[in-house]
Amino acid sequence: MTKTLLKGGRVVDPANGRDGAFDVLIDGDRIARVGRDVPVDAGTKVIEIPSGLVICPGLIDMHVHLREPGQEHKETVATGTASAVAGGFTAVACMPNTNPVNDNAGVTEYILKKAAEANLARVYPIGAVSRGQKGEELADIAELKQAGCVAVTDDGHPIATAMLMRRALEYTTMFHLPVIEHCEEQTLKGDGVAHEGFHASALGLRGIPGEAESIMALRDISLAELTRGVVHIAHMSARQTLDAVRWGKTRGARVTCEVTPHHFVLTDEMLGAPIAYDTNVKMNPPLRETADRDAMLAGIKDGSVDVIATDHAPHHYDEKRVEFDRAPFGIVGLETCVSLCFDRLVHSGVVSLARIVELLSVNPSRILNVPGGSLAEGAPADISILAPDLRVTVSAARMKSKSRNTPFDGWQLRGGVAATFVGGRAVFVNENVSIDL
Ligand code: DOR
Ligand code: ZN
Repeated sequence: MTKTLLKGGRVVDPANGRDGAFDVLIDGDRIARVGRDVPVDAGTKVIEIPSGLVICPGLIDMHVHLREPGQEHKETVATGTASAVAGGFTAVACMPNTNPVNDNAGVTEYILKKAAEANLARVYPIGAVSRGQKGEELADIAELKQAGCVAVTDDGHPIATAMLMRRALEYTTMFHLPVIEHCEEQTLKGDGVAHEGFHASALGLRGIPGEAESIMALRDISLAELTRGVVHIAHMSARQTLDAVRWGKTRGARVTCEVTPHHFVLTDEMLGAPIAYDTNVKMNPPLRETADRDAMLAGIKDGSVDVIATDHAPHHYDEKRVEFDRAPFGIVGLETCVSLCFDRLVHSGVVSLARIVELLSVNPSRILNVPGGSLAEGAPADISILAPDLRVTVSAARMKSKSRNTPFDGWQLRGGVAATFVGGRAVFVNENVSIDL
């Protein structure tokens, strides 16, 4: 087994109370030691980490659509995990709205086989709550857990009825699996395509009110309280939903929540400018108004938000290049997340870097009960090396993802990814940062 020492750099490891200059010794696929002036033997490879770079536990994106099986023209497990490691993520959890749906061990095993072949980021499949995500009967959740699923969700859709949600919460507690909910009250959402407000009205687009999300969150938090089940509210967009989560937490409900970078950076003003009807600002839930965006920032700051996840939703150019009404919902997110977090959260003074590591690593690993979130001795050597001051110009054309549907193309941001290690192996190195591996 080879040993590698990461020497220099700032270690940010909130789970172990570390933030400062430390060396990290990797032995094979594990962390062997973190300390000052760690002694090395002759066979150890020493990698000098330029000062100013940050070494942290591997980032985990708990909300990613990898599209395989069935929609390989948008993304595959191989291209999606290449995108993940380029974005600094050592692990991703992938959503079950594939074709066929991941509602049985066969599909879960297929995804895990593709992930092993790609051999880049770790992949944790998320199973469907209901068979075929049809909202009628529960999927074989025990079988999904056995095959390797770490959570269940009907994402893309909400869990159809209160009774199905109740049963899902009751049943999953036996297996220690969280239920991840895409909150959407479908009669209120109707055939809406954008946030219900000034900008949708001005452009003649059908609206979706924030209450379509918060009403469903209130249903699910109430049912989590009733059943003592565990619910995680995905991609929160509306200020009312954040209030619902806060209410649930004060009552002791077992609820956590996530926010995407696009919901803490953008608003529905983008529907009209700089490009009117740009389908790269069409996502579900939709971009909301300034008060909602600011509420998300406040929730990140005050600790109400547990996780930042991207909802990486690749779609083919031909599918997005249609009228706004007809385009699919979603944008890619893996390769812009870290830069948006640095630029909009750290450099702007909203939160510390340690809090970012909690949101992107510690908390997702805790919620999904997967390894990671810590640089403790003996832990897997999944490590992200970040470059807080790197000047990044987002380029959709140069992304590793198979799809390019991003509203951030051409944006100039401060902060990025230097390198990504999975199981002690460098799986991504940014050519714009000088690290000699
Ligand atoms: O924007 C979205 N895209 N929201 C979802 O809930 C589903 C996702 C997708 O699968 O494309
Ligand atoms: Zn969703």
